[in-house]
Amino acid sequence: MERLKIVTILGARPQFIKAAAVSSTFSKYFDEILVHTGQHYDANMSDVFFEELNIPNPKYHLNIGSGSHGAMTGAMLAEIEKVLEIEKPDFVLVYGDTNSTIAGSLAASKLLIPVIHVEAGLRSFNKAMPEEQNRILTDHISDLLFVPTQTAVDHLKNEGITKGVHLVGDVMYDGILHFTKIAREKSMILDELQLQEGSFLLCTIHRAENTNSLERLTAIVAGLNACNESVVLPLHPRTLKYIADYGLKLGDNIRVIDPVGYLDMVRLESTAKKIVTDSGGIQKEAFFLGIPCITMRDETEWVETVDNGWNILVGANEQKIVDAIKNFNPTSERLTYFGEGNAAELMIDLILNYKN
Ligand code: UD1
Ligand code: UDP
Repeated sequence: MERLKIVTILGARPQFIKAAAVSSTFSKYFDEILVHTGQHYDANMSDVFFEELNIPNPKYHLNIGSGSHGAMTGAMLAEIEKVLEIEKPDFVLVYGDTNSTIAGSLAASKLLIPVIHVEAGLRSFNKAMPEEQNRILTDHISDLLFVPTQTAVDHLKNEGITKGVHLVGDVMYDGILHFTKIAREKSMILDELQLQEGSFLLCTIHRAENTNSLERLTAIVAGLNACNESVVLPLHPRTLKYIADYGLKLGDNIRVIDPVGYLDMVRLESTAKKIVTDSGGIQKEAFFLGIPCITMRDETEWVETVDNGWNILVGANEQKIVDAIKNFNPTSERLTYFGEGNAAELMIDLILNYKN
């Protein structure tokens, strides 16, 4: 039987990490062609993941780069359409909720190519987030929706989407199970930074609602400066730019480093005392690894981690950040909300048996 051809659209850091968990499993069954939109392009935001996680080389690099939402998404749409007309795949696969996700799903949908959305059904109910717009639109034009949690299935049902919805678990859980041991063996980051296990907080900040607001970013920096802990901060280029533009000063307790590869990141996450973040993926990884997570957002898509007591929402509030860093010490047993670490495997039969 001829193998099905899948074109997968990637562009931003978390998508490379999700692809690392999926593409190696898919290669046994499908001809997968990777398309890199170029949304993230610095070596430490892109190449490092392909090199260390054995992700196949993209056949197409669209080199779209940064830009306003409309310009970036529109440019991707035009270029992805050209690729799809050449490749004529059986499916187009997209991950998550970035501008690369909506561009990929829209290009495919308009050419009547079935769309697979991995990490479907997430909602923050905050439509001001570009990610919320991207995920709602993508879900509504997808044909196979691979969903990480029951909550996400329920969200889709509430919007009238039930066809093609499959609860398979979270591919990032697959990834963390596979890479934690490899990270322990290979990553030298603790030695390089001369860090003792359990002696530091790991922090990341990149969410637009935080970086694009002087008030919110100022409060976050003030909270970190005042927390009396040593903080390791692999800094997203977006945030680096805004901290400089706003003239904010980071305290001596904060160690800014460039973004790190995934193996170093997993090593830092696993050995941090606590994690302070506004990242979606990192909230989940903290939960998988059993590290208390303090989330600098007003709401989260990953409500299970909060309900289970391992994640606390502190917004961009200086005092709440300081208090949580001092006092948030979860002890509850972590429940299994995110599947069994075999999400990629479960997708295979569902794709093979898909009937339009
Ligand atoms: C994007 C996603 C966000 C995701 C994040 C993961 C959208 C709307 N947002 O946000 O959902 O959580 O990726 O990290 O798709 N930049 C560089 N070098 C790079 C990449 C970006 O310098 O390699 C800088 C540029 O100044 C750029 C800015 O970062 O304008 C923002 O990049 P962009 O891809 O637009 O959004 P992210 O904040 O990365
Ligand atoms: N990550 C990484 N290096 C870093 C920061 C993050 O490898 O310096 C990984 C992190 O472990 C997680 C993913 O990137 O797997 C999350 O991406 P990000 O926070 O950029 O985006 P989000 O998940 O919020 O969309």
